[in-house]
Amino acid sequence: DKPAGDVFNFDESKHSWESAATQDRAIHSVIYDHDKKTLMVLDQLLLPQDTVFIEILSVDDAFNVIKKMQVRGAPLIATVGTLGLGIELEKRGPKNYDHLLKFIDDCCEKLIASRPTAINLRNAILDIQKIIENDKNESPNALRLIERIQNAAFQWFLNEKSENDLLLKNATICVESNYDNDEKITVMTVCNTGSLATSSHGTALGVIRQLHFRGRLKLAIALETRPYNQGSRLTAYELLKENIPFILIADNMAAAAMKNYRIDAVLVGADQVALNGDTANKIGTYMLSVLANFHRVPFYVVTPTSSINTLIKSGNEIHVEERPPNELIIFNNKFTAPKDTPVWNPAFDITPGKLITGILTEKGNCTPENVKKLFI
Ligand code: MRU
Repeated sequence: DKPAGDVFNFDESKHSWESAATQDRAIHSVIYDHDKKTLMVLDQLLLPQDTVFIEILSVDDAFNVIKKMQVRGAPLIATVGTLGLGIELEKRGPKNYDHLLKFIDDCCEKLIASRPTAINLRNAILDIQKIIENDKNESPNALRLIERIQNAAFQWFLNEKSENDLLLKNATICVESNYDNDEKITVMTVCNTGSLATSSHGTALGVIRQLHFRGRLKLAIALETRPYNQGSRLTAYELLKENIPFILIADNMAAAAMKNYRIDAVLVGADQVALNGDTANKIGTYMLSVLANFHRVPFYVVTPTSSINTLIKSGNEIHVEERPPNELIIFNNKFTAPKDTPVWNPAFDITPGKLITGILTEKGNCTPENVKKLFI
């Protein structure tokens, strides 16, 4: 039997930490110049074949790349959305203060609607709204407010990187602590949670990368992640680029793989975590949590706290985005089912907190029922 994986039960001082996070990443999903206010994003729909960057010149551009999933992954969506807002204000921000307030409101409303389950962007915008409320206490000055918002967006981007180092440390040590120092670990993951889903090293895939550089990874098993194939298009691309040992499986092979390989942990990301630990993540995550429970494999959600929605008590309150039917029935410009096939295509599912061994964050690790304590 596998250890159940008690997240609190490790002594940090017994685990040395030389972060591989400081090593250069092979992949950069965004290039931002704060002085020039230029933002380029990697078009993830063209991967793995082509590496093409798109310039973001407006909120509409940011909205479109997010909506079309050229940019995806909850932390990256927040970065691109807020930096896009800064660029919009630079180019088109009204000079009249009241007009500016209305203009910002409209931009934020649009951005929040782009991928509503990925809560990081909403959380980043809540931060911006606090800045606006404070700014209103001073004499109205549109240029000052624009600069404050641009700086806040830039700070959000920088924080994501620095918090990522802490997140990877907490999470990697936690996963390793269940096993002897000379033991190598086999992990399973779904979707893409790496450099492509963030502007840093990633969350669950970031941990897999750390395990590899620390000599602790035996094998990563990546799910293809139908229907949008983030696992095969993006995770396989990242793992290959960094020479990390892995195999790709179709989603319906997950149960068989759990039975046939000695899986030590399942590591997934999050798009939105409720206060009771219920977690929305890529469709298929809930299935993995059920399988992990049956096979007694620890199931970890690796996430920055910016993916936690402190305003909701449970996953019942999470709005799950549904995607167009064609994403399920068209592949390579060809129908893989009759054209008018009725389709249900939710982008995410909700894993109940009770199936989650631990939620691993930059603020520390907790069991699902203790998410609130991360904010005390
Ligand atoms: O639809 P996507 O590709 O944006 O979904 C991404 C995920 O589900 C990730 O697991 C999540 O955003 C966390 S990324 C660090």
